[in-house]
Amino acid sequence: MRCSWLTDIHLNFLKPLALKGFYDRVKAERPDALFITGDIAESDTVARVLHELAQHTGAKVYFVLGNHDFYRSSIRTVREDAQRMTAATYLPVADPIALSPHMTLIGVDGWGDARCGDTESKVQLSDWQLIDDFRRCKDVAARIELLQRLGANEARALRDKLAKVPPTPKLLVLTHVPPFPEACVYAGEQSSPEWLPWFTCIATGEVLREHAAAHPAQRTMVLCGHAHGIGTHRPLPNLEVRTGGWPPDTQEYGNPVVQATFEL
Ligand SMILES: [Fe+2]
Ligand SMILES: [Fe+2]
Repeated sequence: MRCSWLTDIHLNFLKPLALKGFYDRVKAERPDALFITGDIAESDTVARVLHELAQHTGAKVYFVLGNHDFYRSSIRTVREDAQRMTAATYLPVADPIALSPHMTLIGVDGWGDARCGDTESKVQLSDWQLIDDFRRCKDVAARIELLQRLGANEARALRDKLAKVPPTPKLLVLTHVPPFPEACVYAGEQSSPEWLPWFTCIATGEVLREHAAAHPAQRTMVLCGHAHGIGTHRPLPNLEVRTGGWPPDTQEYGNPVVQATFEL
């Protein structure tokens, strides 16, 4: 089985010809499956581009959502829409998937949960204006409380999924937000304390570490994005986190790439 990994493709920034060119580049990888770790587009385009990707490549599409996918709508509405999609599988609502006799696939969205770095940071995310849930927060404290609650919910969902994972030698976890500060990288370095609270999901990291420690015979690989930097972090011998992002010479939206293609 050939699998290609895409993350933070932000396809809403592409005009039709560039979009077609990207679909062609993905198809050229000849994937049987696509793993997409969020920030696919925005709420009004995410279903369409997932449908087009599936149609154009003929691959089975597995995905989680990123913060940008909720833009101009609410978290609940976009997740409900994702759940109804037939062209692609939204992993947070799917049971663990047997990709092969050796490998199980699960996924959760993740959320930057304001539990590390400098929570008094002046970094302003568009999320807070463009996602209904954050626009309703009356002050910074309410926003931080919401972020921490979202992170805790993601951790709970992840724990429930992990409880259902069979003891396959390998486990693949897709998530949008890096689950460890060391996996939150940009331009080859760990993101600074001003960015870390919004770009790391401490809660899912705790659950992943706990699972890997309790299952030493199972190798867990996590694929994530969000920080737009490329890196690998190995918190435990059997737990590896790969963060996907922009190639070194790219610093803006509209330049989607295939992160990797591998055989399972
Ligand atoms: Fe992104
Ligand atoms: Fe993101």
